[in-house]
Amino acid sequence: MVVYTQKETLVQALSSTKKIGKIGFVPTMGALHNGHISLVNKALGENNLVVVSIFVNPTQFNNNSDLQKYPRTPDDDISLLKKLKGEIIVYLPEVSDLYEDAVSAKHYNFGGLENEMEGKHRKGHFDGVGTIVSKLIKIVKPDTAYFGEKDFQQLQIVKKLVSIENLPVNIVGCPILREKNGLAMSSRNKRLTAKQFEEAAIIYRTLNEVRKKFSTTSIADLNTLVAERFLQNPHLKLEYFEIANEKTLKTAKRKTKASKYRAFIAAFAGEVRLIDNMPLN
Ligand code: PAF
Repeated sequence: MVVYTQKETLVQALSSTKKIGKIGFVPTMGALHNGHISLVNKALGENNLVVVSIFVNPTQFNNNSDLQKYPRTPDDDISLLKKLKGEIIVYLPEVSDLYEDAVSAKHYNFGGLENEMEGKHRKGHFDGVGTIVSKLIKIVKPDTAYFGEKDFQQLQIVKKLVSIENLPVNIVGCPILREKNGLAMSSRNKRLTAKQFEEAAIIYRTLNEVRKKFSTTSIADLNTLVAERFLQNPHLKLEYFEIANEKTLKTAKRKTKASKYRAFIAAFAGEVRLIDNMPLN
C-alpha cells in the first residue's frame, strides 16, 4: 500500500494503473471505523485498485471548533487499511495540495437538495462537500466512488453534483453500519464519553420506533412522539427530526402512497453532533 501526499505523484501513479483495470474511490475524512472499512471492502470487491482519500475538508465545516476537534488518526487509519486484502492507494494531502489559492468553496445549486435539513443547519456545508468531492473525483478519475448512507443527503447531493458537472463516475451508496447498541458508526463517535455513547442509542431506538409506527400513525403524531422521546432524555439535544421524501428530501407533511419516505435525525450529545436516518416504507 502506497501513501501519496501530493496530487501530482498520485496522478502519475494512477495514470499507469488506469491501463490495468477499474479504479474504485472511497473519499473519507479519516478516523476510519468499520463503516469506512465496509465501503473499502465493497470497492475492493468491484475494482482492481481502490484509492482512499483521508482529508478533513475545512470548507465543509461551518463551525471552527468542530473543525479543530474533528478526530485525526492518520497512523491508525493507515494500519487499518494495511490489514485489508487488495490493492489500495491512500491519498493523504495537506490543505494546500487541494486548495492552492484560497481555502474557499464554490457555490452550487443542487436543485434545492442543499436547502433541506443539514443545509438549513450547517450553512455552506454542501458547497464545501461539492467543492472537495469534485476536486477529488477530477484528480482520482475513478470508475466508481462509494459513499455511506449515514450521510444520505450528502449521497443525493453527490449524485446531483456528478450530473451537473458531467463527471464520468458511477456513484454507489452503501448501507449504514451500526454499533451493538444501534448507534450509527461515525468518526465523531470517537469524541463521545462511554456514557454519551450509550445514551446516543436513543437516536436509533427512536428512528426504529418511527419506522414501526409509520404505516399506522400520522406524520404530525410521529413528530410529537420523537420530540417527547428526546425530552425524556436530557442528555441528547434534538436539533431536528424530519420525515422527508427520499427523492426531493423535502419535509413531508402527510403521506402519499406513491412516495418513498425516510426519517432523519440530528442531535447533540454534549458538543458532539450526530446524524442518522432510516427508510420508512
Ligand atoms: O462524508 C465524508 O466523510 C465527507 O463529507 C467527504 C465525502 C469525504 C468529503 O469531505
